[in-house]
Amino acid sequence: MPSPAERAPATRVPTIIVHGGAGADPSESHEFRPGMRAAALAGWRVLSAGGAALDAVESAVRVLEDDPRFNAGRGSVLTRDGTVELDASIMEGDRLQCGAVAAVTRVANPVTLARRVLETRRHVLLVGDGAVAFARSVGIPECDPASLVTDRQRQRHAERAARSAALGGTVGAVALDRNGTVAAATSTGGTAGQLPGRVGDSALIGCGTYADSSIGGVSCTGDGEAIIRVVFGCRALHYLKDADDPDYAAKVAVDLLVEEGRGHGGLIVIDWRGRAGYATSTPLMPVAIMSPTLAEPRTLF
Ligand code: GLY
Repeated sequence: MPSPAERAPATRVPTIIVHGGAGADPSESHEFRPGMRAAALAGWRVLSAGGAALDAVESAVRVLEDDPRFNAGRGSVLTRDGTVELDASIMEGDRLQCGAVAAVTRVANPVTLARRVLETRRHVLLVGDGAVAFARSVGIPECDPASLVTDRQRQRHAERAARSAALGGTVGAVALDRNGTVAAATSTGGTAGQLPGRVGDSALIGCGTYADSSIGGVSCTGDGEAIIRVVFGCRALHYLKDADDPDYAAKVAVDLLVEEGRGHGGLIVIDWRGRAGYATSTPLMPVAIMSPTLAEPRTLF
């Protein structure tokens, strides 16, 4: 654990890492690069201007929610009934402040709605119609649910495609800012053909998302039920605390997901020093990183 002196503001080098989902289709990997770079850059603009990690991860995830190639926001997979239901969560690791929404329709950027829930300091998770009513009350515009459904998803739903019904998967971001604050966020359309009302790990703090500025932050992706079973995000941070090695901790966490959770997936991690790591048990998980030593976002897939 870092001492307060070690975590002094001047010692932190800002960094952001983003993912585009462990369910991404490997044959389409070239399609993800522009979106991954744009997301890392959006978060980086915030961090490099001295902004907060929480703002950085929200900005990065919004870019991916707006990109129809990823399974979040517009372009999400469809439920059994052909509708879009969105889950998202966000966490700031200094005071363990967090917010989340689940099974939300009519909101194009659920990560921002999750952020508003965090800001209430009263609730952590709002779902369904209650979450949409809350969105209305805080001035987040409602969208036509049909505007979230892309032709590609409509067609795949009609075909009942056996393979992953999204090009990309769940999206997420983890960042460390200049002040030593770690934040993480995750957003998803869930799983193709899921029962209406199903909620996955991305809405659950400790499962899909976790941040503790004295250790690091994590955003997870993959089989939501398996991730929930092993409380993947929280366990990954425990491994990070013990191992003090982000890549190693991520690999051990993925082994846990496969062996104990009986599912597949991956995660991205940043530790309190700003070192990034990632791992997945799937053929492809698009990842991009941006830090002061890089001239532009580096894609890692
Ligand atoms: N990991 C996203 C979900 O299962 O909903």
